[in-house]
Amino acid sequence: MTTVFDELLSGFKSFLGRFDQQPLRGFIDGVDWSMRPRRLEPSGLPCLSHLSRAARIAGAEAAPLARFLDDRCHDFRWGQTYTSVDFGKRFIDNYGWLEVFGTRGHFENRKMAGGFLILGPNIAYPDHHHVAEEIYIPLTGGTEWRMGEGGYRRREAGEIIHHTSDMNHAMRTGAEPMLALYLWRGGPLAARSTVTGTVGRELT
Ligand SMILES: [Fe+2]
Repeated sequence: MTTVFDELLSGFKSFLGRFDQQPLRGFIDGVDWSMRPRRLEPSGLPCLSHLSRAARIAGAEAAPLARFLDDRCHDFRWGQTYTSVDFGKRFIDNYGWLEVFGTRGHFENRKMAGGFLILGPNIAYPDHHHVAEEIYIPLTGGTEWRMGEGGYRRREAGEIIHHTSDMNHAMRTGAEPMLALYLWRGGPLAARSTVTGTVGRELT
């Protein structure tokens, strides 16, 4: 019987199958998608309220996956790495992730983690870095991303954003929420990021 978790993993995999660019191919070629499911209790977060808007503004190719996440979000275990002590309550109420597979997600994988990140509107996720190499593919456009010492650049849905090991990166949303797919490999897959920036002035 196909479960909602199987649908989650197959939706994740088939969305990635649309891309043939490096470095994404190097990340996912050789991934064994027959991962063992892990029994996890569902757990919601305030940021799930942004999923319906994210699904409406998602890029055409990402929209079915975003709608699936919105429809079935309460079946999944959403998490947060930070607390309100780190970035304040407003950030915490507008931030969360879902690990589809990895060392703690709905499917077991010790080599790579993959999932989704939600940020509400007008949220700044300050400079941070981690050992793991990371790819993001935003499912919604309009968020500004910065990496290394570069400036903020607006990224559209379906762009591939690659952060090498320990590279600083940050993002800030505008009037719309962000939903993005992520992949991590090559480091402790549940590690907390090292934060180097401050929240500073949030966009208004
Ligand atoms: Fe990151």
